[in-house]
Amino acid sequence: MPLTISIIKENANHESRIAASPETVKKLTAMGCSIKIESGAGEKAHFTDDTLKAAGAKIAKTASEACSKSDILLKVQVTEADITLMSKGSNIIGLVNPYLNEALIKKAKEAGVNLFAMELVPRISRAQSMDALSSQSNLAGYKAVLDGAEHFAKAFPMMMTAAGTIAPAKVFIMGAGVAGLQAIATAKRLGAVVSATDVRPAAKEQVQSLGGTFIAIEDDEFKEAETAGGYAKEMSAAYKKKQAKLIEETIAKQDIVITTALIPGRPAPKLLTEAMVKSMKHGSVIVDMAVDNGGNCDVSEGGKVVSKHGVSIIGHYNTPSRLPTDASALYAKNLLNLLNLMIDNEGKALNIDWEDEIIKGIALTKDGSIIHPNFDGRKSPAKGAQKTTKKSPVKKTTTKKSTTKKTAVKKAAKKTTTKKSSPKENKEQS
Ligand code: NAI
Repeated sequence: MPLTISIIKENANHESRIAASPETVKKLTAMGCSIKIESGAGEKAHFTDDTLKAAGAKIAKTASEACSKSDILLKVQVTEADITLMSKGSNIIGLVNPYLNEALIKKAKEAGVNLFAMELVPRISRAQSMDALSSQSNLAGYKAVLDGAEHFAKAFPMMMTAAGTIAPAKVFIMGAGVAGLQAIATAKRLGAVVSATDVRPAAKEQVQSLGGTFIAIEDDEFKEAETAGGYAKEMSAAYKKKQAKLIEETIAKQDIVITTALIPGRPAPKLLTEAMVKSMKHGSVIVDMAVDNGGNCDVSEGGKVVSKHGVSIIGHYNTPSRLPTDASALYAKNLLNLLNLMIDNEGKALNIDWEDEIIKGIALTKDGSIIHPNFDGRKSPAKGAQKTTKKSPVKKTTTKKSTTKKTAVKKAAKKTTTKKSSPKENKEQS
């Protein structure tokens, strides 16, 4: 019996992606797996039933038909409803939002379903091809700049014409992680003058290497703001005060501000107050990419574009889903790379090494128990997420990762300026 893998329509709000692509269906089928997809699951990403069928999938009429006798359900966003579709001992892999989704983890435990969270893939070199946060944030950073440009009443590049000179747009990126760095690269490509801020020291060199100016309070706390996993920790009240003053001085001169700042397991840090918005020029634009986590701007509204004090504030939810074809293709590839680690060579059986660093990182439940140390009640999630590099033995990996990512973003920036990408380049990008 081949291993059965199901893909169903996404049931979360603001979700247009699908957890498979014609390419991954073809590869999984070639591996010997049987793929069942709910009819219409790929519609919003423009993967039609016919295309998926041609790639080797069987099309099921309903989600329950797709999940019947299934070994693995692949999802973009896992919801509680998905768990009811799967039987005891089966597996669900997808984005779980684990720090804010205790009920979902409990439900998977009670149902005896093994649940794997894609956002917990460790950021180590071996797992880069499975890193869904990066593949999705990269696209989101690009799209955020386009969203900003759409609501900006001026051009981005400097233009010297017979009718006069247009000054280049000034773009300020807050949070220079994966999304922020791609936003810098995209805004630069459009011809803007770009600056950026972050609380992690590693970000400084990355911003500068993309041609941006780095603006930050670089005190002792800044030097230790990166956690073992390479993430930012929550800053002290004193740092926040100094940072707010610097932002206040910077922001009034900007045309477009894109905020991407996140802290795993915490609400997004509030970086822009209404007074700061008020200090901006009439016609300026703010794109708050953190709205899904509460927002970086006090006056942004989730799912809306609002105008406050003459400033357009864009608060689209789920930015990667706004590019559903590419986002689905890359996410599906992340899943395929993970499945390669979990399935035997003939696609007939699951072969999960529960001691593997990647599996240990993402496995939340197994055989009716919560097995992830951050969620089994032994350790608080926030503590786990905020361990500092100072005490961590894995700092070396973090440094290596940053360099790899910097190179990837640089490559992406270069590629888009080239008129035609070669197939090899396209392959590299994915
Ligand atoms: P994220 O999405 O968690 O946060 C976005 C950015 O916001 C981060 O750069 C963070 O430092 C920044 N931030 C948080 N609080 C802030 C504040 N108060 N003010 C200003 N900025 C603030 O981060 P993302 O994009 O997931 O990247 C996290 C880390 O992972 C980075 O160190 C990155 O280099 C590393 N990474 C490693 C990869 C690999 O090797 N596989 C791939 C991608 C990222």
